[in-house]
Amino acid sequence: MQRWGGRFTGGTDERVIDFTRSIEIDAALAADDIEGSIAHVRGLGRAGVLTADEVAALVAGLEGLAIDLEAGRIDWDPALEDVHMNLEAALEARIGPVARKLHTGRSRNDQVTTDLRLWTRRAIDRLDAAILEMERALVGLAEREGEAILPGTTHIQPAQPVLFAHHLLAYVEMLERDRGRLADARRRLNVSPLGSGALAGAGYPLDREATAADLGFEGVTANSMDAVSDRDFVVEVLAAVALAMVHLSRFAEEITWWSNPVFGFVRVADAFSTGSSMMPNKRNPDPAELVRGRAARTIGALTTMLGILKGLPLAYQRDLQEDKPPLFGAVGVLEGSLGVMTGLVETLSVDAARMRTAVDEGFTTATAVADTLVRRGVAFRSAHHVVGALVAAAEARGVGLDAVTDVEVAAALRASDDEVARSLADEPGAGEALRGSASIDAALALADVIGGTAPVRVRAALEAARDRLGAAGAPAARR
Ligand code: ARG
Repeated sequence: MQRWGGRFTGGTDERVIDFTRSIEIDAALAADDIEGSIAHVRGLGRAGVLTADEVAALVAGLEGLAIDLEAGRIDWDPALEDVHMNLEAALEARIGPVARKLHTGRSRNDQVTTDLRLWTRRAIDRLDAAILEMERALVGLAEREGEAILPGTTHIQPAQPVLFAHHLLAYVEMLERDRGRLADARRRLNVSPLGSGALAGAGYPLDREATAADLGFEGVTANSMDAVSDRDFVVEVLAAVALAMVHLSRFAEEITWWSNPVFGFVRVADAFSTGSSMMPNKRNPDPAELVRGRAARTIGALTTMLGILKGLPLAYQRDLQEDKPPLFGAVGVLEGSLGVMTGLVETLSVDAARMRTAVDEGFTTATAVADTLVRRGVAFRSAHHVVGALVAAAEARGVGLDAVTDVEVAAALRASDDEVARSLADEPGAGEALRGSASIDAALALADVIGGTAPVRVRAALEAARDRLGAAGAPAARR
């Protein structure tokens, strides 16, 4: 007989039992369920619904269950449907009939969402710590390879030189926003639904605020019907998790390109690479690829949860049981991904010389050269044209912009529609000045604005990040 089976005469069809039970999934809530039950029992005591002796017996029993759980000594019975029924039965087996008073003034509907809020709050705290570790690893790498210069790209084509550290710090920015989103979701979810009952509110004079305080909640939900059917917090956390995975996936994608020997910018350590069953030569960045692949799961989890909610009338509907697989799955994916990506970054080796060659080959200082002409009074659009012609000339001869000849410079300036540019053509030293402005260091130094890649700015950004993250940096490459 099911614990809810009073009005039923026949048994439940086996297929229904199989189809509706959730213990395989929601056993993960057991510790939170016990914690919630202890707070609820104390609340029932305060309200005079349970005697002091009953409270003591129930709390002791629940604490014993917590110890058994910790030790892996609780056997989950699939016939008991879910974690709540299993724990209630386990309590009764342990302390006898007084356990039958546990569920007074409570429904599984307010119980399960209380559990889920507690679980999610802890998950957010773990994720926050793991994101911080990843940020520290990125900052550590940026400090270690502070001199490395990357051909920054747009459209995947070489665009402008940037410090490698600047590129890494871009991901630190993304991860900081991820932390902010999780913290924001945590603040909103941190209220107690206990006392909402099945949907109408518990029928006992419970001090909901006191119970909430016992559980470390900042307050209580304001509407019982909303409380039992609200899973907005799951959506919010899944959105934050999916976006964090999108960020990790973008970085993973960069790793897969950079580690290809055609680029050769980085080498993923052996410990973070895997081989091929057939090709003895292979070293594959599989962890990065799986991060990219698993990001898809978290995006799916978010749309799954939104899909579950969109058709639900008030209040609790059984559909809500489907909230756990996407939430647990997505949180697990992000935790695992942060772990491998942190390790991958900590052990990554960088070939700054290869990066530098790529910077040299991409005419990446062309914009800086145009900016130099602008500072001499040439209109930007015309300067763009002049430098475009010089790039074409340099490309035709297979040299860089810093090797254009005086004759090529004079010809490009003379052909300009800009009067100032034409006058510069006759200026002695025009070629020399232009070649000088094509140097990578000069180009980098120009980007001297807040958020720019000028070395002085990047150093300041690194210091700020280091201050924020605390001194504990990534160890100098655990190779
Ligand atoms: N296993 C259920 C869930 O996860 C618990 C609540 C069930 N409530 C009910 N009235 N059947 O949502």
